[in-house]
Amino acid sequence: MTLRVGLFSSKPYDENVFRPLADGEKVTFDFLNMPLTPDTALLCEKYDAVCVFVNDEVSSATLSALAASGVRHVALRCAGFNNVDINEAHRLGIAISRVPAYGPEAVAEHAIALMLTLNRKTHKAYNRVKEGNFELNGLMGFTMHQKTAGIIGTGRIGQATAKILLGFGCEILCYDPQPDSEFAKLPVAYVGFDELLKRSDIISLHCPLTPQSHHLIDAAALSKMRDNVMLINTSRGAMVDTQAVLQGLKSGKIGYLGLDVYEMESELFFQDHSEQLIDDEVFERLSTFHNVIITGHQGFFTREAMTQIATTTLGNLVAVAAGQAEPANLVLPEEN
Ligand code: NAI
Repeated sequence: MTLRVGLFSSKPYDENVFRPLADGEKVTFDFLNMPLTPDTALLCEKYDAVCVFVNDEVSSATLSALAASGVRHVALRCAGFNNVDINEAHRLGIAISRVPAYGPEAVAEHAIALMLTLNRKTHKAYNRVKEGNFELNGLMGFTMHQKTAGIIGTGRIGQATAKILLGFGCEILCYDPQPDSEFAKLPVAYVGFDELLKRSDIISLHCPLTPQSHHLIDAAALSKMRDNVMLINTSRGAMVDTQAVLQGLKSGKIGYLGLDVYEMESELFFQDHSEQLIDDEVFERLSTFHNVIITGHQGFFTREAMTQIATTTLGNLVAVAAGQAEPANLVLPEEN
């Protein structure tokens, strides 16, 4: 029997990667250029499973509509699952699977790209040189060698980021409620949260969004940081209190801000809004700072990582349907 899957929030690159892999498998995809919401979940009667991404709304209302339509599995084609009501899915008997790892280096390398761009201002240099302006005023950066980098969350991506920064000759401080003893054998130091904030020149966030990590970087946390600190967030937008960060930018506490994720990104990211007014004053204010670089949740977006995501997602779809799901790829209530 063919497994019928509605793939929501589909983009041409999703179709390009998933379609050839699905050939030969007992799976057919409908590539749907709309988000999964309580309303679009009502359209799922013909699907056995749905495949969703980071900003699809897998709320209790969506899950009830999916259950009523006979959908038995929500396959996340990403690692984070903060957009899913796991308890409700469990109660309704809907399996939730994800792709726990797909090349953490892809996201780590993007975090480093943000650091280097902010520091050496290559975005400004590019525009200047294009216009025949070879003036260096305003382009001065700092040497990263021997600077202190604080890594918050030392899972797969945090470790990959730390390893690159070790290559730069940075001192690495780490904070994680569950330190990794194998990783701790590298020349890195686990310290308390406050000590990391106080001592780091660069702070990079790599932990999942949970009730505990929501607004982890708030006004109180910012007040403990060095002046002119560089803050990088490639994890989830709501780890950072954006209003507090705006104040930190205005006061000069934050000297450099690199975001690949944004608290209200679901209204903006992955869509072309270039012909419209952007109706988000906080985002618009953030964009006015010259020392802020925002990318639209593209940390994962490499050929290699996309292929891995599609391969694992397809494996999850087939395995869950056969009742042979890989436990590590299932999200269960206690994980939340
Ligand atoms: P992981 O599960 O391997 O590691 C997460 C680490 O964070 C664990 O060691 C955990 O103990 C730690 N942690 C949990 N709560 C914490 C807290 N309050 N403070 C400090 N550490 C805490 O996850 P992985 O693969 O490294 O991914 C991290 C996050 O990156 C994901 O949860 C996701 O939100 C984000 N991500 C972003 C992508 C992008 O394209 N920008 C792509 C993939 C993931």
